[in-house]
Amino acid sequence: MPLFSPSNPPITHWAGMRVWIIGASSGIGAETARLLAQRGARVALSARRLAALEALHADLDASAREEALVLPLDVTDAAAVESAARHLLSQWQGLDLVLLAAGIYDALRAPVFDAAALPAARAVLEVNLMGTYHVLAALLPHFTRQRRGGIAIISSVAGYSGLPSALAYAHSKAALNNLCEGLYFELRPLGLSVYRICPGFIATAMTAHVDFRMPALLSAQTAAHEIVRALERGEFDIHFPKSFTRFLKLLRCLPRRIYFALLRLGTRQV
Ligand SMILES: NC(=O)c1ccc[n+]([C@@H]2O[C@H](COP(=O)([O-])OP(=O)(O)OC[C@H]3O[C@@H](n4cnc5c(N)ncnc54)[C@H](OP(=O)(O)O)[C@@H]3O)[C@@H](O)[C@H]2O)c1
Repeated sequence: MPLFSPSNPPITHWAGMRVWIIGASSGIGAETARLLAQRGARVALSARRLAALEALHADLDASAREEALVLPLDVTDAAAVESAARHLLSQWQGLDLVLLAAGIYDALRAPVFDAAALPAARAVLEVNLMGTYHVLAALLPHFTRQRRGGIAIISSVAGYSGLPSALAYAHSKAALNNLCEGLYFELRPLGLSVYRICPGFIATAMTAHVDFRMPALLSAQTAAHEIVRALERGEFDIHFPKSFTRFLKLLRCLPRRIYFALLRLGTRQV
């Protein structure tokens, strides 16, 4: 692949594109589903909360609603993911793009981590990491057979470097960041597209209760626009807002002594 061409083929139109959004019941996933449906994509909406999925479905334009599917599932249940994928593939006779937006956060802190915190840590890894594997296991055989299809994974800037109050969450996102690179390297030559999406802070249910100031906070609608624009451009490394994410990328390159000093300053820990 030439060095300066897009990492993935640009998406020039959404009309008729079959897109499965997992984690579509709220936040970034819901807003991206809404936006893609407005652009003419056929959307399949998945998450655990059926009522929220149905409310989103009911809110779509009549033509988008008619084409859309509502497939409630829990990503930690491999059999449920597999069965939803089978249903979707047979209903739509294929799939063009899956957007993995399902994720949970728990403010786990090292100084108070003990056996009582293990279930919370396990839950974060099960949803954020194993949930992703379950979706990959259900779709990769199909995508690699048809040598076409896109996999977009919402990871996070929290995976760039070690952070406080994010024991399992940041590790799960670091793993996803790494996983996306492996997927891209192996799947792009087979004709598949892979997108790694690292938002900064976004105002959603996930961040509603954080007890620190979130710099460069964006709305979920803005995040959806950023994601769709970057998918259209064929970017692999999708991150926003750039003013914040570029600074974090720079921090990642610094010697760790300097990184920890700046992190301590930024998070005002003593
Ligand atoms: N908000 C931020 O600042 C931020 C920043 C960077 C990255 N992200 C990432 O962006 C993604 C979306 O988060 P958000 O901010 O939009 O938060 P959100 O509004 O809480 O959305 C999370 C979505 O994940 C779904 N989900 C959670 N557990 C699930 C499970 N076991 N099975 C299926 N779906 C499940 C939720 O639906 P149900 O509860 O109905 O299952 C919901 O639709 C997450 O991966 C998050 O880590 C968020």
